[in-house]
Amino acid sequence: MEFHVYDNARAACEAAGALIMAQITRKGDSVLGLATGSTPIPAYEKLVGWHKEGILSFEHVRTFNLDEYVGIDYANPLSYHAFMEEHLFSKVNLKRKNIHLPDGHSATECQAYDRMIYEAGGIDLQLLGIGRNGHIGFNEPGKEFVYGTHIVTLAESTIEANARFFKSPDEVPRQAVSMGIGTIMSARCVVLVATGKEKADAVYNMIHGPITPEVPCSILQLHPCCVVLTDREAAGRMEA
Ligand code: F6R
Repeated sequence: MEFHVYDNARAACEAAGALIMAQITRKGDSVLGLATGSTPIPAYEKLVGWHKEGILSFEHVRTFNLDEYVGIDYANPLSYHAFMEEHLFSKVNLKRKNIHLPDGHSATECQAYDRMIYEAGGIDLQLLGIGRNGHIGFNEPGKEFVYGTHIVTLAESTIEANARFFKSPDEVPRQAVSMGIGTIMSARCVVLVATGKEKADAVYNMIHGPITPEVPCSILQLHPCCVVLTDREAAGRMEA
């Protein structure tokens, strides 16, 4: 696992944007695994900027998002569909047919999502944020790692953390559909960005803790190509 600490959150996220840019430059038809949440926004801003400057084309890029809430209308600005439209999809030349988000709620639809990723040749670069509790995608702490795309019940700490986007915690959906740990681990390269002091424990446990489904991100210790980019706050326990 490679670990890089930046002076501030924006720099860490922009570095993730640069790795995505390099990936697309090397392989024009790259398959990207994408994340939502506050963390990756500066990465998407950089990608949009490079696209506008004419030095980055998404014409042949294919994307698969990590997750989506269950029970939320995709037109709702708080859905992950809407998030991706706002921050990336509407601003670059991705082809509609090449954009994928998990939107099924049945086991068959979840399996179909994994099959689409497989048929695309697998994910070249998977962008990840990290939950305060160590979740990646919406793989919450639990008794076992779940391999494929599946429906999850969100942890209380995740509902609390994501309540900032909603009018009240009661409005945060209780369930989501998420790529599984197996799919994430099958990506050829993983780029995880963690910023803010509330992520410091998760970052420490990811790198120095035991590999356990109680801390889902800890599985990344076994990934052959995992780059972790943090700001100073999220690296707080590493530097102690
Ligand atoms: C989002 C996702 C989540 C977030 C995590 C951190 O697609 O998969 O794992 O990356 O909850 O969210 P932020 O960046 O808002 O702190």
